Amino acid sequence: MTISSQPSSSQTSSSHASCPQASATQSWNAAGYAANAHFVPALGQPVLELLQPQSGERILDVGCGDGVLTEKLVALGASVVGVDNAPDMIAAAQQRGLDALIMDVRSITFANEFDAVFSNAALHWVKDDPDAPIVGAFRALRAGGRFVGELGGHGCVAAITVALLDSLERRGVEQASSQIPWYFPTVDEYETRLRRAGFVPRSVQLIPRPTPLPTGMRGWLETFANPFCAALPEEERGGFLDEVTARLKPVLCDSQERWTADYMRLRFAAGKS
Ligand code: BEZ
Repeated sequence: MTISSQPSSSQTSSSHASCPQASATQSWNAAGYAANAHFVPALGQPVLELLQPQSGERILDVGCGDGVLTEKLVALGASVVGVDNAPDMIAAAQQRGLDALIMDVRSITFANEFDAVFSNAALHWVKDDPDAPIVGAFRALRAGGRFVGELGGHGCVAAITVALLDSLERRGVEQASSQIPWYFPTVDEYETRLRRAGFVPRSVQLIPRPTPLPTGMRGWLETFANPFCAALPEEERGGFLDEVTARLKPVLCDSQERWTADYMRLRFAAGKS
């Protein structure tokens, strides 16, 4: 599931790419995402179980990305609309035959019409206004509806982030932390935001989830770290990613060259009364 605060045009991706077309915001490419991050929807089963979609329900999938999980909701008999900021991902979702729209998740336009709003691995990309999608979800739901989702939680990818910031600072980037594109809330913080929007939180949990990376750290960085690369001239970006990968190897790569990222998830369910 993906959000980009500024939709970018599609980009090509290869295993040796170095932050292709880096921009200050995250850019999305459906083929690169499928290659390097297919585990993101694959690990979405627990949040689907929390949602408990019922046949015939009308569900809004916020940050649907390329629609892998949206398709599962449809297969369970729900009538689903997916929205995402990234045109390339929405095109991929539409190719699956899904009802998917390009929509900024900070400005959801639906009102009082969904039984449930669902979101997986998308809301941590809305760092500039984390309340906006919560307010939009509340408005989109009918009375009695539910908002169920998962995003990165406090401490998510902490080791990776420290290595990225340290390597940027070594290259003379000032205030490198301003490049962090993610919002990883604590339980208290997210519960407060849900209540403030009008929801009654039913469960909000922080869950450590060490996550194997199918294409290693370099593949992960190429897919998710372009906002950090954007602080550097293009010719430095490949060396930067090589350095970050090498620095993380002693802590996130095992003796059989298997990489694991230090993910934390924040999983929540809340109701609209
Ligand atoms: C995710 O998609 O879950 C994710 C992306 C970037 C950083 C951490 C988590």
